[in-house]
Amino acid sequence: MRPLSIDPDIRKASTLPADFYTDPVYYERTKEAIFSTFWHYVGDEQDIAAAGNTWPFTLLPDCMDEPLLITRNKQGHWFAMSNVCTHRGNILVEKPGHVRMLTCRYHGRCFSLEGKFKSMPAFKEAVDFPRPEDDLPQISLAQWLGLHFVSLNPAVPWSTIVSPIEDRVSFLALDTLQFIPEESKTFSVKANWALYCDNYLEGLHIPFVHPALNAAIDFNAYEYHQFPYTNLQVGEADEGQPAFELPDGHPDFGRSIYAYYFWVFPNLMFNFYPWGLSLNLVLPKGVDQCQIIFRTYRFADASIDRSVHAIDETELEDEAVVELVQRGIRSRLYHQGRFSPTMEPNVHHFHSLLAHFINQSVG
Ligand code: FES
Ligand SMILES: [Fe+2]
Repeated sequence: MRPLSIDPDIRKASTLPADFYTDPVYYERTKEAIFSTFWHYVGDEQDIAAAGNTWPFTLLPDCMDEPLLITRNKQGHWFAMSNVCTHRGNILVEKPGHVRMLTCRYHGRCFSLEGKFKSMPAFKEAVDFPRPEDDLPQISLAQWLGLHFVSLNPAVPWSTIVSPIEDRVSFLALDTLQFIPEESKTFSVKANWALYCDNYLEGLHIPFVHPALNAAIDFNAYEYHQFPYTNLQVGEADEGQPAFELPDGHPDFGRSIYAYYFWVFPNLMFNFYPWGLSLNLVLPKGVDQCQIIFRTYRFADASIDRSVHAIDETELEDEAVVELVQRGIRSRLYHQGRFSPTMEPNVHHFHSLLAHFINQSVG
């Protein structure tokens, strides 16, 4: 596997080589170098709490396939840990529910709700037992906007990831966001997950690919901002289009903002609109396949509707072009491209982060 190199000067830089999106070696490397060390949305606190005090799930099914468990103890504290029994590796909890302690149904090893080893039949003679390794390995858990996020081994704290988002949108009634299942959708896309992200990260294609969106925003006022592991696109509304009511002192006060599109490395998107939040997850399902989950959350007092932003129409237009690109980059005659210095700085940011973490993991 060749190291990846992205020139820090976008004017000189080339994009990632095509084989990043097609070669299973890069895809496999991404699992350990990036997906293991960054943050993943796993569910809403409300749903997890309603299911009882234990909530098993698989992190990135068909990609990481990591069995994990969220629990809540008697004091109401949340924990996230491995869902694999430390004896011989059985899956410990098979379904959500309410239990007094975690009991493996293979040979009866018991753990507290905090994941501490409690008891095990037929181990009295075992020497130097139990050891700390007999507890369930703990992982990092963060809560934000009533959503749960986990990381196996975080390269950066969750607070570093979200502080630039909070700086911009804390004026919104974030604590009133309510999940709207009938406006939430899942899409399958025949493309590498990173290719879907590349497309999300630039507005250069808007006039060519999204006629409805292009009519609603002012293309010339489109803006890009980069933070360490997050970036932002600001869409300015054309006259007569819905826009945020920004408070005095907000960095964009006086402007008519259509949407804030925040991307969190590597595969999470928080799109804020005047009616609420569209949370997008890009789930890798193989080197040339991904699944996109759109979860819609509405502010309690929202007066306009999600449909005004033509989100689903825009999504289908994006998917069609991203699938064409996946076919294109397999060509023997295509190797890599260049960035628009003004319209693709967030793609450059993404490629720089991918290259950095992939190279670091190679050593
Ligand atoms: S694998 Fe869990 S007790 Fe044996
Ligand atoms: Fe698009």
